[in-house]
Amino acid sequence: MSDREHELVLFGATGFTGALTAQYLARFAPPDLRWALAGRNREKLERLREELGTDVPVLVADAGDPDSLRRVAEASKVILTTVGPYIRYGEPLVAACAEAGTHYGDLTGEPEFADLMYLRHDARARETGARIVHCCGFDSIPSDLGAYFTVKQLPEGVPIRIEGFLRVHGRPSGGTAATMRMMAGRLPKIVATARRRRRAEPPVDGRTTHRGAGLPHYERAVGAWVMPLPVIDLEIVRRSARALDRYGPDFTYRHYVVIDQPGAMARQLWSTVRGGGPKPGEGPSPEERAESWFKYTFVGEGGGRRVMTEVSGGDPGYDETSKMLGETGMCLARDDLPERSGQLTPAAAMGDALLARLQRAGIKFEVLQPALTSESSGNRSRRSADGEAEAQATTSSSLVHPARLGHPPPPLSSDAWPSGSLAAKTERLGRGASHRRRPADRPRT
Ligand SMILES: NC(=O)c1ccc[n+]([C@@H]2O[C@H](COP(=O)([O-])OP(=O)(O)OC[C@H]3O[C@@H](n4cnc5c(N)ncnc54)[C@H](OP(=O)(O)O)[C@@H]3O)[C@@H](O)[C@H]2O)c1
Repeated sequence: MSDREHELVLFGATGFTGALTAQYLARFAPPDLRWALAGRNREKLERLREELGTDVPVLVADAGDPDSLRRVAEASKVILTTVGPYIRYGEPLVAACAEAGTHYGDLTGEPEFADLMYLRHDARARETGARIVHCCGFDSIPSDLGAYFTVKQLPEGVPIRIEGFLRVHGRPSGGTAATMRMMAGRLPKIVATARRRRRAEPPVDGRTTHRGAGLPHYERAVGAWVMPLPVIDLEIVRRSARALDRYGPDFTYRHYVVIDQPGAMARQLWSTVRGGGPKPGEGPSPEERAESWFKYTFVGEGGGRRVMTEVSGGDPGYDETSKMLGETGMCLARDDLPERSGQLTPAAAMGDALLARLQRAGIKFEVLQPALTSESSGNRSRRSADGEAEAQATTSSSLVHPARLGHPPPPLSSDAWPSGSLAAKTERLGRGASHRRRPADRPRT
């Protein structure tokens, strides 16, 4: 495939998230990467190219014109797409990529779309060698690679259980709002398609995977009330566990959203679903994005050990999503990846290669509390993913989650959880903005 005219094509480049991804590529793609902007409107594409100050080719294709998509797919090694809602516009491009053996990455968070694409195009993509990777934005890279990173801190060959806790602050774009409204009206179809997929998926030899809904509860790991988060990430993490032996013989994943301001959250959700908020092509301003952030805290248990990790970054929906999508494209185009094809999760398709790229791009993957046994105590380390460590005093560790013991919500103190640094940590989690990051200048890879 290295002889194809374009190594990487960005379809939907003129949209809100598409233009941010184009900016990211213009800034960070290696100078010799053969990449191109694609969309349905030549004039808009040329204007964008001028704004970017690049001379990359412009390709015209329409989601409703399969021939135009076939031509682009056959000329490309990798296509990224931000043309959504994907259930409305997405399938023809997946079909074209599966047929042409072209790697594909998107930003969908729509379970029905991913399930339908599995049922209809996974088999062909396996035959042609295409990697079809959905959910390469905030849905679901932080949870998928966060769980992957957490698994790697625990012993091999043992049952593993991970819980994720998300704190997030940000506003949706017009495209995201349109997608949420569309999903809200399709619940029965979403459930029915998921059922069809589960029946079609082959069993995994000798291993089991689960994803749980969980219940609202007070969570001492993050010092707040949390509630279950029924989004596609649960399935994506479970599929990574199905694909990768490293997740052990019996893997369970649950995740929750931290309820810091229940009123504000409910108002934003209600206004988005009812049709308020930005129009297609619009989204949060640079100032609003600069105030946005996310933190995903993971507690993993396995083989008598427990580890606490965190993935964090700036504006989740757009600045960090465009970074994640851009790095996914460059990873699929240039990196040495596992020999897998068909519909794959980000972790199964790209694993360590994408993890390393995102770390270099400024998304933090940290070990807050190294894997400890219940007897462990003494000096512990806070470790960043690249191995830097800084000594911290810790107190005792317990393998049983305090919340599960039915303790009432405690005041956070230095000995309320394995790490003596947790109270300070939790305070930082609450403030969040202190962990915001911008893409730093860095070598292009
Ligand atoms: N999972 C995540 O974390 C995440 C984050 C951000 C966005 N998203 C998803 O990404 C998608 C895009 O969001 P957005 O806010 O960037 O939307 P947007 O600004 O409305 O952009 C949509 C893009 O699709 C293009 N398009 C629409 N119909 C087309 C067609 N028939 N053929 C070719 N292109 C067509 C538009 O082209 P024109 O410019 O010519 O109109 C535009 O470039 C949504 O589905 C959203 O949910 C997901």
